[in-house]
Amino acid sequence: MAKARRPILILGATGQQGGSVAKALLRAGWPARALVRDPVAPAAIALRDAGVELFSGSFEDTRLVRAAMKNTHGIFSVLPANLAADDEVRYGISIADLAAESGVTHFVYSSGASVGDTLTGVARFDAKPRIEAHLRTLPIIATIVRPMIFMEMLVRPGFGLENGRVLSLIRPEQSIQLIAVEDVGKFIAAMFADRARFGGVTLKIASDRLAGRDLEAAFSEVAGRPISYARFPDDVLEANADLAHMARSLEDGPLAEHVDLNAMREINPEILSFRSWLATRGRNALNEALGASAT
Ligand SMILES: NC(=O)c1ccc[n+]([C@@H]2O[C@H](COP(=O)([O-])OP(=O)(O)OC[C@H]3O[C@@H](n4cnc5c(N)ncnc54)[C@H](OP(=O)(O)O)[C@@H]3O)[C@@H](O)[C@H]2O)c1
Repeated sequence: MAKARRPILILGATGQQGGSVAKALLRAGWPARALVRDPVAPAAIALRDAGVELFSGSFEDTRLVRAAMKNTHGIFSVLPANLAADDEVRYGISIADLAAESGVTHFVYSSGASVGDTLTGVARFDAKPRIEAHLRTLPIIATIVRPMIFMEMLVRPGFGLENGRVLSLIRPEQSIQLIAVEDVGKFIAAMFADRARFGGVTLKIASDRLAGRDLEAAFSEVAGRPISYARFPDDVLEANADLAHMARSLEDGPLAEHVDLNAMREINPEILSFRSWLATRGRNALNEALGASAT
């Protein structure tokens, strides 16, 4: 009889990336564990009902994190976006250290696509590269993924769609690489399935690449009415350091680097194009942002 697989622990499983990873790992037949802060929250109950073993508590609770990591094959680590930079680094390092101590077989950390080869000197932009650098010093087989910009970011209410236009960070002729949150999980399931190939690797992941003009065409086609595309006005970018940083990165920094979509498709054959995502998984969010009632 085949030996039973040891579980994979998913952090942030009630959130976007962790939820996507949980879904993909369950589909691939992995026993899954999740660390959840509120075990009776609907998202936690849904995980439990899907067969995920819940450990209830925060990643600040070292004792609990140790217990959740015990005897795991894999650990997926992602940290929430709203942390102060120092906390993000502290938690990221602590989780990686505990993972190394637990003897986990394969650790996967979700970092960010705007991480480059050098630090920027700005604490919040440097949190992820600092966690990456620490991880590389540990005696652990780790994969670092850097997801490109989420497709979901383009259909947030209040970013222009309600007025028939879509605003983003690129010029109409410039291209942006996007990933559907659902694809994050599929890529990571592929990585856990092949540690020999992905262990020790740092990889940007993306699902599609489109110019501003292509976004305009895709939005108009799926919405069934004209949607114009424009870059955020300069004064908006000047007033928002995070948006300005991303815009610069898309111009000639790490976000401008082309991810080979054929290589991506080979890892994740079910990759979602922006058009297909917008017409299916993204449809409700699109309707909401357009001001229509979600279907
Ligand atoms: N590439 C992009 O376009 C893009 C876009 C957005 C974010 N990001 C990056 O993605 C990362 C965030 O991932 P996400 O969007 O999947 O996050 P998310 O949807 O906000 O989910 C955060 C998860 O972390 C959990 N959590 C928060 N504090 C915790 C704690 N103290 N202990 C245990 N669990 C805790 C939350 O649990 P609860 O359910 O209890 O809150 C939730 O499951 C950040 O690194 C951010 O920079 C990238």
